[in-house]
Amino acid sequence: MKKTVRDIDVSGKRVLVRCDFNVPMKDGEITDDIRIRSALPTIRYLIEHDAKVILMSHMGRPKGEPKPEFTLLPVADRLRELLGQEVLFVASDQVVDEAVTAAAKALPAGQVMLLENTRYRKEETKNEEPFTGQLAELGEIFVNDAFGTAHRAHCSTAGLAKYMPAVSGFLIEKEVKFLGDALDNPERPFVAIMGGAKVGDKIPVIENLMKKVNTIIIGGGMSYTFFKAMGLEIGTSILDEESIDLAKDLMAKAKDMGVEMLLPVDTVCAAEFSNDSRKTVVDRDQIPADMMGMDIGPKTIDLYKKAIAQAKTVVWNGPCGVFEMPSFAEGTRAIAQALAESDAVTVIGGGDSAAAVEQFGYADKMTHISTGGGASLEFLEGKELPGIACLEDK
Ligand code: 3PG
Repeated sequence: MKKTVRDIDVSGKRVLVRCDFNVPMKDGEITDDIRIRSALPTIRYLIEHDAKVILMSHMGRPKGEPKPEFTLLPVADRLRELLGQEVLFVASDQVVDEAVTAAAKALPAGQVMLLENTRYRKEETKNEEPFTGQLAELGEIFVNDAFGTAHRAHCSTAGLAKYMPAVSGFLIEKEVKFLGDALDNPERPFVAIMGGAKVGDKIPVIENLMKKVNTIIIGGGMSYTFFKAMGLEIGTSILDEESIDLAKDLMAKAKDMGVEMLLPVDTVCAAEFSNDSRKTVVDRDQIPADMMGMDIGPKTIDLYKKAIAQAKTVVWNGPCGVFEMPSFAEGTRAIAQALAESDAVTVIGGGDSAAAVEQFGYADKMTHISTGGGASLEFLEGKELPGIACLEDK
């Protein structure tokens, strides 16, 4: 267990808080502020406990150079609205300079400032000096609350822990609790649903989950690699050629371990990768040579819904079809609905599955939706995340 802001005295202290404000933007506007809202409990706690709050984050991948499209200025504006108080934003291409340091040192208790995008500095992603030391100058306590970036060992996510007391914020605490409890202490039956296009990307997480679950459900583009491994013809469906043997191994391992592995039994096929394409529903051994699988079919939906209805814990990572196209969204929507209607603990890995649950209007029906894409995947793989490992133990 890691210490949190509750375990230290923050009153009157300059507290450096790493958040993940890497939010989607369109034409300079934030299109989804869930990551900002998820950081508010920690920020509010610090304000209420008279800390001097200095927020840090990256946005996008500016590759160590100041790039105006990645400025955190819109985040400062949104934070002001959400907190209902001033958020000082001292823009600097260097992130930390004399003016920023002076502003941080003069910050009154209960006030908030936000630094510019930490990835404007090339040292950030390499966890190198002098940037870590310059950031450290600004604060007395390091709080990491950037779960979405906890799988990165960067200056602002891990390096700072060498300089000062380092604890977690409430978001990291919550993510670790829900993802960790699901993995280590699940109420059974425990069902994992894995989707997404490439088996190769998901192998480590499937392997780790197989050690823990009763049932593993496979959906999405990766199903076709499993079909191929079963000797079926898959037409023009997406195929992860290099992973055919791995898929075979996974099926054999599941059998050996007594884990039920459910694969689609039918599929919605399209002639082209387009929402308006001609489509047809076929059993998995009937995929036409000139068509590609785009979604799970109705028999598969029924099969998966039954497994979900019996589960007490469900972890879902990756969509079951091309849900961005309304013609091929039904499988993913039905799974999201089944989860929403279930009494099980439902934990949604970040990224596409979180977006799907949000899109179909079931977000408030889930037990927990992770704010981490890559980070939640690495967590589910059983890896230690450097942004959490660097924090003090209780
Ligand atoms: C994310 O969106 O997954 C995090 O903010 C991390 O971003 P990165 O993949 O650019 O490190």
